[in-house]
Amino acid sequence: MDLIHTFLNLVAPPFTFFSLCLFLPPYWALKFLLSTINSIFPENLSGKVVLITGASSGIGEHLAYEYAKRGALLALCARRENALREIADKARDCGSPDVIIILADVSKVEDCMRMLDETVNHFGRLDHLVNNAAISTSNLFEEVTDITVLRPIMETNFWGSVYATRFALPHLKKSKGKIVAMSSADSWMPAPRRNVYNASKAAIVSMYETLRVEVGSEVGITIVTPGYIESEFTKGKFLTAQGKVEVDQDLRDVEVSAMPVGSASGCARAVVNSVARGDRYLTTPSWFRITYLFKLLCPELVEWSFRFWYLSRAGRSPNESLSKKVLDASGAKSVLYPSSINTPDVKTD
Ligand SMILES: NC(=O)c1ccc[n+]([C@@H]2O[C@H](COP(=O)([O-])OP(=O)(O)OC[C@H]3O[C@@H](n4cnc5c(N)ncnc54)[C@H](OP(=O)(O)O)[C@@H]3O)[C@@H](O)[C@H]2O)c1
Ligand SMILES: *[C@@H]1O[C@H](CO)[C@@H](O)[C@H](O)[C@H]1NC(C)=O
Ligand SMILES: *[C@@H]1O[C@H](CO)[C@@H](O)[C@H](O)[C@H]1NC(C)=O
Ligand SMILES: *[C@@H]1O[C@H](CO)[C@@H](O)[C@H](O)[C@H]1NC(C)=O
Repeated sequence: MDLIHTFLNLVAPPFTFFSLCLFLPPYWALKFLLSTINSIFPENLSGKVVLITGASSGIGEHLAYEYAKRGALLALCARRENALREIADKARDCGSPDVIIILADVSKVEDCMRMLDETVNHFGRLDHLVNNAAISTSNLFEEVTDITVLRPIMETNFWGSVYATRFALPHLKKSKGKIVAMSSADSWMPAPRRNVYNASKAAIVSMYETLRVEVGSEVGITIVTPGYIESEFTKGKFLTAQGKVEVDQDLRDVEVSAMPVGSASGCARAVVNSVARGDRYLTTPSWFRITYLFKLLCPELVEWSFRFWYLSRAGRSPNESLSKKVLDASGAKSVLYPSSINTPDVKTD
């Protein structure tokens, strides 16, 4: 037995290397050709039924407008009713022929089941499921004393998507529909204070990559990994170490630092275009993909520089991290952030 492994250890790496050199150029050429064809003939979204979770603010809200502009029928879900109502009205103005709102907490199985039932009862079908609802966190792991306060992150971000997907699957198979899985660039960047959030987003990538192997021939799956986008997240809305949702713009500055923040409408447009083309992955803004290369090729460097950049010395306030000091001293905020995210107001219900 061991002899086989010794043999493979010697032979497999060079063999793989040389066969990849031969195989990759035609493979990439074919991929390029297919994606060109798909962008010339994208899916016609007019009259399609789209269910969006977390549609009451940020990216989800703008996804609603973007789908509406292309004539899709919408089921918008979240927990805040007033916000949803306003967004539903705007979506109708943008061109959606029919919009319903559904109050649901995606971390509850029964809510997800009802959300799918209400959508299919009303429209008679389902074409796209957009799993966008999520909550963020921004605590150093050791600041959390009651560890159970972190559970809602996984329950909303990961289980919320998975429950909804399970109940949607029979309908999506019937319509040859599509699923959008919202992950994050944090799924590969080990950004400090994002521990469980980043884990929930990494779990999404692995879940939907596996599901794509199981059902991909019938249901399309687009895994979206946004960089920093204008939303209530980037306004500083985080789950605190005490388990409460609060807005802390100083902590947001520490975390986002001197990174440019993209507009929610631009992000939504990129997502809907990508789904209509049937892409498997989308990173938006697309330059964020280079961070993946850094992580792949020099993980030690990424780890070390993140510690150096984002963390202040033990016992000091997060305000004293280099990331915040440089942001404040350079005045770069006015250039890098959309002005909307500098007001700490978030919608309430
Ligand atoms: N903004 C970024 O920089 C960024 C970067 C990477 C990834 N993302 C991802 O993009 C997606 C959208 O986030 P966003 O940035 O637009 O943040 P956001 O403005 O905070 O929106 C989050 C949405 O999720 C909903 N939600 C939260 N918990 C829920 C629950 N238990 N049940 C139902 N709905 C729930 C919220 O509505 P209610 O409170 O009304 O329920 C809200 O509509 C998330 O998946 C996020 O992880 C964002
Ligand atoms: C899209 O579909 C709608 C109705 O199904 C149809 O009226 C419209 O002409 C189509 N648009 C394109 C560009 O094919
Ligand atoms: C998430 O964070 C962990 C710990 O910081 C890190 O090891 C990991 O690379 C990050 N991303 C993924 C995909 O787990
Ligand atoms: C960070 O600085 C701001 C003012 O710049 C202050 O209001 C806030 O309390 C500080 N936060 C901490 C945790 O020290």
